[in-house]
Amino acid sequence: MMTEVPVLTIDGPSGSGKGTVAARVAGELGWHVLDSGALYRLTGLAARRAGVDFADHAAVAEIARHLPVRFEGGKVLLDGEDVSLAIRTETAGNDASKVAAIPEVRAALLDWQRGYARPPGLVADGRDMGTVVFPDAPVKIFLDASAGERARRRYKQLKEKGIDVSLSGLIAEIEERDQRDRNRSVAPLVPADDALVIDSTSMEVEEVVDRVLQAVRKALPQAVPGK
Ligand code: DC
Repeated sequence: MMTEVPVLTIDGPSGSGKGTVAARVAGELGWHVLDSGALYRLTGLAARRAGVDFADHAAVAEIARHLPVRFEGGKVLLDGEDVSLAIRTETAGNDASKVAAIPEVRAALLDWQRGYARPPGLVADGRDMGTVVFPDAPVKIFLDASAGERARRRYKQLKEKGIDVSLSGLIAEIEERDQRDRNRSVAPLVPADDALVIDSTSMEVEEVVDRVLQAVRKALPQAVPGK
């Protein structure tokens, strides 16, 4: 496997702040980022648009295998169309969680995800980065937060975008998605045995970023630029 390229895995439930922390840490290190959730979101969106029944596992996996996706200048293009916003809706999140429970879909995305490990390093954000995709990663983080706090953060983000939702509805959705992600038979959301678990419920992003950089510095002293 690609052990020469250092990989930092950041796993955790929706809304734990993984995406923000992964981007910030990658910026500090000058490393690449893999947003693996986006691949499941794209698979769900493409399957829905193609009218494929999520119960037809082989058909959904076929879509995952041949996703016509490009990542360009912070945008996500599906078949040339900018779907950066379309993959971030609640429906897309729920669809992603459903297709992510299909073993054939996970298998279809495995090598693609591993291909993101390129020098000088990779920050891989997801649910099974440390357990399945990069089990040999030298630094693994599991970022958690209470369901209530995660719903509150999501509520604030949506409000800022002018989208009106109910907080109690969001909590229920987050709990339902967690339940599915944590209990599925393949690659469930669990911390790797060797992961550092950080509960961000009452932490600022800055603090989490510092803790993660500290862990990287400890495991890979040469990787963190002079601080
Ligand atoms: O991180 P996110 O909210 O964009 O992920 C969307 C869904 O994809 C989430 O419900 C779980 C699933 N997922 C997964 O099963 N494995 C990953 N590595 C990343 C996401």
